[in-house]
Amino acid sequence: MSSTNPLRGRTLAATADLSVDEQRYLYQKTRELKAAWNTGGDLTPFRIHDPELNVYLLFLEDSTRTKESFRNAANFHDIKLNVFDPSTSSFKKSESLVDTLKMLFGYGRRSIFVMRTQMEGVCRAMEEQLGDYADRIGRERPVFINAGDGRHEHPTQEFLDEFTFLEQRAWDDSRIHVALIGDLHHGRTVHSKADGLKIFRSVTVDLVAPKELTLPDSYRSRMEENGFEIREWESIEAYLDAPEVCDCWYFTRLQLERMGDEIRDREDELREAVTFQQRWLERLPQNTRFFHPLPRHRVKPVIPSFLDATQLNGWDGQSINGFFTRVIELAIVAGQLGGDFSGAGPAPESKDESFITEVALTRKTRVEDRFKVGIKPVDNGTVIDHIAKGGTPEEIWDRIYRIRRILKLNVRGSQGVFHGVDPRVYKGLISLPDILEISPTELKKLAAVSPGCTVNLVKDRSVKAKYRLAMPPKIYNFAEISCKNAECVTWPGAFQNVPPYFYRTVGETFTCRYCGKRHEYGDIWDL
Ligand code: NCD
Repeated sequence: MSSTNPLRGRTLAATADLSVDEQRYLYQKTRELKAAWNTGGDLTPFRIHDPELNVYLLFLEDSTRTKESFRNAANFHDIKLNVFDPSTSSFKKSESLVDTLKMLFGYGRRSIFVMRTQMEGVCRAMEEQLGDYADRIGRERPVFINAGDGRHEHPTQEFLDEFTFLEQRAWDDSRIHVALIGDLHHGRTVHSKADGLKIFRSVTVDLVAPKELTLPDSYRSRMEENGFEIREWESIEAYLDAPEVCDCWYFTRLQLERMGDEIRDREDELREAVTFQQRWLERLPQNTRFFHPLPRHRVKPVIPSFLDATQLNGWDGQSINGFFTRVIELAIVAGQLGGDFSGAGPAPESKDESFITEVALTRKTRVEDRFKVGIKPVDNGTVIDHIAKGGTPEEIWDRIYRIRRILKLNVRGSQGVFHGVDPRVYKGLISLPDILEISPTELKKLAAVSPGCTVNLVKDRSVKAKYRLAMPPKIYNFAEISCKNAECVTWPGAFQNVPPYFYRTVGETFTCRYCGKRHEYGDIWDL
């Protein structure tokens, strides 16, 4: 096994953990495996030979297909398969995930954890925490594969879905036009499509769901950013009147277990809007295929069972592809395959520093800025200016207090809300005669709390340094931030001790690194 294999050791917490090139590689290898399998060919190149590799299946939520296809995929390989039973484990004694996993990790030379949880973002968090632990004790970092985490993502389902779409199109990846139908709000297999469909060079997505079940903004925005064309209808009946009905229908069941009572009470009515009816058969385009991650509701399926033996049935083949794609996923992350991969990996994380700019000072600004910014001009000290510029006085006062609280500025000083050159544009200002220096860490913190402000260091009545702080690309390491998704692994009530971490997406939105929830900038703060 090559140690330069870029795919070995890769955690699959979200679909985007594999770049588009890497996903195409996965599909190519799956295609080769499936061909060899179906024709009685040599399967040895696909098989991991490592009896010291432990694969753990940890399903803390129910599963049939994902669990059984992973169990069979693991059995295909020459490795050690362990099926962990959470119902009789120390989870019942309130043990944390990280403690449980550390223990299991200790039993093998290399470990792959396949995990399904209700809590969202678990695989990313465990990748970090167990990875740090492995580094400390000098062991190879374990791999985590997300087999579905709450309403967040289901990357391995996504890989099998995309493989199935490609197979159905005879491997033509130039264009897809797909309808996503059903519970788009809670259905994680749909959420993963925001990144998975990117393997097609042109994408049109028709969203078909009643208002209560529409796709959350986080995923819709991602689809838009990925250049997908998005169209929308509230029911199948309405969709059938659309100018261009597509021939690839992807259904999902109503995720009753994740719904609030108000929505669940209207279950029948909502289901009806996304259930296919016999009388619509002749309105479908030629060669239409239906897909579904399954399971179907046995009493009220959105794809009724009279369609099972028809040409429309794409879902049975889709489900079998779960086995083949998962054999290859294990082989890739174990390093058995991937040595011949030559495409691009995922984009590196953005650098952290560019949001603090030191402003060059002229002779004039050295003196003028001091007078301009001071409430009472400071001779020596720090002046934070342009706070929440353009906001309402209420917003600006709010920001001023937040800065003082978070940076613990309990020192002498003054503050106020003023207008700048334009009398209609307000800004805040804090003047701090006792603060003579500001560390890079404090500047970062200030940028996170109050992007857009400037910091002036005044010495002997003249401005000695001036910094302009922009919105940082990441916000983390603060006690005063939290992800507002109660199912997130970072949620304080989950007691998993995973600190919140946000990275900036478009404009002023911040996405939780773990559960993917997007927040408006102000919403990440608790103070
Ligand atoms: C899906 C899941 O668990 O998200 N099922 C699956 O993995 N095959 C879809 C669902 O449960 O509706």
